[in-house]
Amino acid sequence: MNDLSTQLDVGALIGEPVRHESAHLHVSGRAVYADDLELPPSTLHAAFGISRIAHGRIKSMDLSAVIATPGVVAVATANDVPGENNYGGIVHDDPIFADDLVQYAGQPLFAVAATSMTIARKAALEAKIEYEELPAILTIRDAIAAHSYVIPSQILARGRAREELARAPHRLQGTMTVGGQDHFYLEGQIAIARPGEDGTLQVHSSTQHPTEVQNVIAHAMALPAHAVVVQCRRMGGGFGGKESQPALIAAAACVLARKTGRPVKLRIERDADMLITGKRHGFIADYDIGFDDDGRITALAVMLASNCGYSADLSGPVNDRAICHIDNAYYLENIEILSHRCKTHTVSNTAFRGFGGPQGMLAIEQAIDDIARTLKLDPLDVRRRNYYGASPRDVTPYGQYVEDNILERLTDELEKTSRYRERRADIAQWNAANAIVKRGIAFTPVKFGISFNATVFNQAGALVHIYTDGSVLLNHGGTEMGQGLYTKVAQVVAHEFGLPLAAVRTSATDTSKVPNTSATAASSGADLNGKAAQAACATLRTRLVEHACKTHGVQPDQVRFAGGHVQVGGERMTFAQLVQSAYQARISLSATGFYATPKIHWDRSRLNGRPFFYFAYGVAVSEVAVDTLTGETQLTRVDILHDVGLSLNPAIDRGQIEGGFLQGVGWLTNEELWWNAKGELKTHAPSTYKIPSVRDWPQHADVRILDHAPNPEDTIHRSKAVGEPPLMLAISALHAIRDAVAACGDGDALPDLAAPATPESVLRAISSLLPSGEGARRADEGKA
Ligand code: MTE
Ligand code: MOS
Repeated sequence: MNDLSTQLDVGALIGEPVRHESAHLHVSGRAVYADDLELPPSTLHAAFGISRIAHGRIKSMDLSAVIATPGVVAVATANDVPGENNYGGIVHDDPIFADDLVQYAGQPLFAVAATSMTIARKAALEAKIEYEELPAILTIRDAIAAHSYVIPSQILARGRAREELARAPHRLQGTMTVGGQDHFYLEGQIAIARPGEDGTLQVHSSTQHPTEVQNVIAHAMALPAHAVVVQCRRMGGGFGGKESQPALIAAAACVLARKTGRPVKLRIERDADMLITGKRHGFIADYDIGFDDDGRITALAVMLASNCGYSADLSGPVNDRAICHIDNAYYLENIEILSHRCKTHTVSNTAFRGFGGPQGMLAIEQAIDDIARTLKLDPLDVRRRNYYGASPRDVTPYGQYVEDNILERLTDELEKTSRYRERRADIAQWNAANAIVKRGIAFTPVKFGISFNATVFNQAGALVHIYTDGSVLLNHGGTEMGQGLYTKVAQVVAHEFGLPLAAVRTSATDTSKVPNTSATAASSGADLNGKAAQAACATLRTRLVEHACKTHGVQPDQVRFAGGHVQVGGERMTFAQLVQSAYQARISLSATGFYATPKIHWDRSRLNGRPFFYFAYGVAVSEVAVDTLTGETQLTRVDILHDVGLSLNPAIDRGQIEGGFLQGVGWLTNEELWWNAKGELKTHAPSTYKIPSVRDWPQHADVRILDHAPNPEDTIHRSKAVGEPPLMLAISALHAIRDAVAACGDGDALPDLAAPATPESVLRAISSLLPSGEGARRADEGKA
């Protein structure tokens, strides 16, 4: 067959800023989320009973008062799980219901099903549980001291870091500290389990990973996978928090549904969600860095440690990605990374937009900022001198060549459009003249690897049906969480048939339609599912073209699909007419498509290979004003230039860039998770946990998508993934605050600013730079 892609109107739909496929439903409140589904009146509502202590053995669990509560129909504990009591996807160390050992405050112990959600939630509090308390490890430092790890530590080394450090012209040490982050999806975790005939289960789950939910349920319920169907039409946000966590919710709902024979809805409220489910990993990095007079890094040794919480969950891959992003945009010839995956008695941390990458980047960005301040150079100059491309060798510490580097181009362009140099001078003048409000500016780059590190996950499937009226129903393994995946893949499909977008509908992601899918994660949703759907369309188009050739006696290159019509030689017909004719000729109008990302390979044990198909790049300049008396900060301006290859949909991509950036700003400035000395998370509601709001968007924002930048790799229409990379542009906001804080000192001391840069953290950093009396006074005022 000829190359059919030449027979299309290139450009139609692809690259157009069409609106999100559900925008009209979102804004009018008619988009159906799991909680909106109409359910039979027999449906029960469930709630978890959770541990109140961080670490201990359960001596006794008396649930009689729970069961006696009017309206309660059933309770389920570990004993009611017919199969394996586990929802851990990789290491099987996550009980659905704690059995004997409790490992964090908030851990589910049992679940209760009642006739209403209020009854279930109230009844769950009636449990009488006696514990034998054990000492709890709560911090990364304590875990390291106790050698408490969820999985073994790893080392990645290249070159001669130790020797080069010893003979470096300059050398400094520092510590980077960053907290975790709650996903704060607007739609909380929810699952609905409906028992079907013959022991089967039908589950609606708000999940980025329907296949994993299916597998966990199958194991927990001792069923074959074919007996479990998991469906998700859309999530009200996932951000990585619905990669592994939904399996817990869905499995618990299934246990209760099996026990009662009735549909069970388990929707946990916000406080419970924040207590029970995993978050972004907090990290520390102790670095020792050597450099020359120009700020070129000659060696780096770093101890990277993350708070994984009580179990492994996705901590292995998250920490691997942190290791793979410690280089960020910079060539590090001599490097030694020691990575600890710390076990603490807190909630088990999980995927969160960037997946460890942002934490790795923060370490090198802080070290570079230290170098610049030590040498009294502009941090941007030090960054540029260390960029990949500035050195003759362009290979990452893990052995992947950086072949698509566009950092120079991005940096040149943004340096100009943002007027970085002039503004830097203005700010220096302002700071010299003003004692109270200090301003700061920072320019930071992002280079983010696209693909799942684990090669196996880089595959996808799609299913495309053409109905006899010419309308097309699309299904693929990717899930929709607001990021616009369904829109982008529908654009690809409509384009393949030369149809308007309205001719294509996407049906809910469903394990019975496309099996064995990967999580919609690692930003690769459109890359993977777009290609799989395109492959299904190519199969169908080939059938239609062959049929047209046979009936009209033309050659394949005389058949063209455009504008809802098909030109067959001299005859023009509607797409529906050709489809009808193919149907009459008994030609199949349904096809599957499959895609596996080429070129990638990864040796997990040696942390070596080409894990990423390509890199996505971006640069940002943030400017802040800091009130040095209160520690309050304001992001006054941001300029962003981001690379999405050839955009499939610039409206959606812009939304991802702006949203990702602001979510990163929230993580690094206001969102603080705080546990008390007993290991209880005290910030478990919006009253105490502050995510950015519309007023945090800077007054001046210039957000641009890099033009004319096709992906050199053969991705779907030469686009690039966009979901996660822009989050890391927010490192510029943290560094702008660091810059303003540094302006409070005499210019020699390095600011010790821990993230999130809350007012308290900012005041602490300022006071460490001030003469001791003044510093102590301000720190006290800050506490009060
Ligand atoms: N955008 C919205 N609106 N909601 C989300 O939950 N999740 C992010 C990102 N953008 C998210 C989002 C994360 S963590 C990832 S990995 C990607 O979207 C996943 O979708 P994609 O692969 O289709 O980009
Ligand atoms: Mo995104 S953290 O890969 O779900």
